[in-house]
Amino acid sequence: MIIAIDGPAAAGKGTLARRLADEFGFAYLDTGGLYRAVGLSVLRVGGNPADAGVAEAQSKSLDLALLSDPELRAEATGNAASKVAALPGVRANLLDFQRNFAANPPEGRPGAVLDGRDIGTVVCPGADVKLFVTASAEVRAKRRFKELEERGVEPDFGVILADVRERDERDMNREDAPLKPAEDALLLDTSNLDIDAVFLRAAALVKERMAPQ
Ligand code: DC
Repeated sequence: MIIAIDGPAAAGKGTLARRLADEFGFAYLDTGGLYRAVGLSVLRVGGNPADAGVAEAQSKSLDLALLSDPELRAEATGNAASKVAALPGVRANLLDFQRNFAANPPEGRPGAVLDGRDIGTVVCPGADVKLFVTASAEVRAKRRFKELEERGVEPDFGVILADVRERDERDMNREDAPLKPAEDALLLDTSNLDIDAVFLRAAALVKERMAPQ
C-alpha cells in the first residue's frame, strides 16, 4: 500500500503523513528532506544551488546523514532546496531512492507514506491513495510565523509571506515535475479544516482502499 501526499510548504502534509504512517504501521519518507539534504550539501561545499553541475554531483553521492542535520530545517536550506529541486538531473538522481522506498518499505512494513510535491504525479503515479493537501498562502505563512516564534526567533510576517509565495511560484512553475494535484488526488484544504478532521477523512479513504474489493 502506497500513500502519496503532495502540496505546498506548510500546508500540513508532514503532520498528516506522520499520523497516517503511525495509524497503519507504515514507513514514512519526507521527500522534501532529500532535496534539503542536496541543498545543504551544495551550501557546505560553497557552491551555488542553482548550478546544475555542483548540485547534480552532490545529489549523486548524497550523504543520508544530512537528513538528521540540525541545519536541514533552516530557511537558507529550504531556499537552496527549492533551487536544486528545479534541476532535472537532481530530480532524476533522487527518483530511484524514492521509488525503492515506496516499493520496499524498510523494516518489512506493510506500506509507505511519501510526502512531497510530485509523489502522486511522477514518483508513484500508481499509488493506492493520493492526497493533495493545501491551504492559502496567508494561513501557511501564519503557521510558519508561529513555528518560528515558538523557536524563539522574532519573525517578520511580511518577509515570511513573501518567501512562501516565492517558493510556491518556483515549485509550481518549474518545467520538470511542477507542484500540482494528480488528477485522481483527493483535495484537502487545511485553511479552515483542523488536522483531526483532515486526518479522519484521509484515514477513511485509506481504509476503504485497504478493504478487499
Ligand atoms: O517540503 P520542503 O519545504 O521540505 O521541500 C523543500 C523543497 O524541495 C521545496 O522547495 C520543494 C522541493 N521538493 C520537490 O521539488 N519535490 C518533492 N517531492 C519534495 C520537495
